[in-house]
Amino acid sequence: MEIEKIPINKIILYEKNPRKNDQAVDIVVKSIREYGFLVPIVVDKNNEIIAGHTRLKAAIKLKLKEVPVIKADKLSKDQVKAFRLMDNKSSEYARWDIPLLKEELLFLKEDNFDLELTGFSGPEIDWLLGLDEEKPEFRDPKYAINLGEIWKLGEHRLMCADSMDHLAYDRLFQDKKIKLCVTSPPYNMGKGKMYKNYADDLESQRYIDLNIMVLKNLLRYLKGYVFWNLSYNMNSRWQFIDIFYRMIHETDLKFLEKITWDKGHGMPINSPQGLTRDYEQILIAGDEETIQKEISYAMIGHNTDKVIFRKRGFKALTNYWRITTENTQTSEHRAAFPMELPMRAIRLMSDEGDLIFDPFGGIGTTLLAAEKAKRICYIVELDPVYCSFIIER
Ligand SMILES: C[S@@+](CC[C@H](N)C(=O)[O-])C[C@H]1O[C@@H](n2cnc3c(N)ncnc32)[C@H](O)[C@@H]1O
Repeated sequence: MEIEKIPINKIILYEKNPRKNDQAVDIVVKSIREYGFLVPIVVDKNNEIIAGHTRLKAAIKLKLKEVPVIKADKLSKDQVKAFRLMDNKSSEYARWDIPLLKEELLFLKEDNFDLELTGFSGPEIDWLLGLDEEKPEFRDPKYAINLGEIWKLGEHRLMCADSMDHLAYDRLFQDKKIKLCVTSPPYNMGKGKMYKNYADDLESQRYIDLNIMVLKNLLRYLKGYVFWNLSYNMNSRWQFIDIFYRMIHETDLKFLEKITWDKGHGMPINSPQGLTRDYEQILIAGDEETIQKEISYAMIGHNTDKVIFRKRGFKALTNYWRITTENTQTSEHRAAFPMELPMRAIRLMSDEGDLIFDPFGGIGTTLLAAEKAKRICYIVELDPVYCSFIIER
């Protein structure tokens, strides 16, 4: 079969293409820019695309005049339609061999090659490269789970993925809307301290961006509230300020509350640079429409700031929550929520049957709380080992 180059404006997009690919365009732009146009677009005899819509969109973005194509002019009408699906679907059956994948990445790393030019995201790369390093004792998982897999757990869903990957959200949510996102992003404490595999050691700006990118990804599916738990430590001391600031300033979210979560015991700091910390903070924000509909405002003070809360029978509920973290550092995970924390948020900000989401799933405490409170929970976790623990729980 011959490859020919044809002017880009002669190629016709297939109008009923069932793949949503707009969010894949930038990564393909990056790929073509680095490696050239190595995979031709497949077209029928009328130059209508059979396979390669994303490549064409990337070529348009790159302002290319011509693109390489292969003409599949011997296929019947039905074969064209079927191959269009097959071409996309068949790649979903392949799996990564993680040790070999790690070896390939290490090879590139040794040559100082930009690892994000593999299409893997920063956290995925950190996770893969951090595998098998000496870490605190954690027990072994029962299930072998692959990146990209979605597990059905009754009505709940668990996806093993990087929450920065916006394509993952399309696969997970489709037309569903999140009522409440309850999450505790990684603490960025520094290598090997907290997790079995996740490195937890992003450069400062990347740590802030991780939070903001994940928030922006999920906002496309949110009709409700976010409950964002952050803290600080010797490795990341002030970053939480930027994160909370950007959460409100760079999105349409409206600030509702900041909860002080008193953990009942401090994380001792033996350093003149910091104090022992007894508490963490949680930002609660929501979309304007839901707030208007569900939360009755009361005016306070002399300015126009509004104070909120639909208290749903919580007597004297304040923004100071004392919930102890005793027994949450286990051989499965060192930074899991105590069950009471997501439970309180879920009861406060959602109704039975609502969809709860946690983009940093850990060992799935949010999912367990949602199940107990008769909500549905979708959860994303990057580390397959933790995904296994979630299923086991
Ligand atoms: C503080 S823990 C969450 C613990 C969780 N609340 C629980 O109760 O088990 C943060 C989790 O985020 C995961 N993680 C880190 N980066 C991620 C990413 N980019 N996408 C998805 N999960 C990620 C880590 O593996 C870790 O399990």
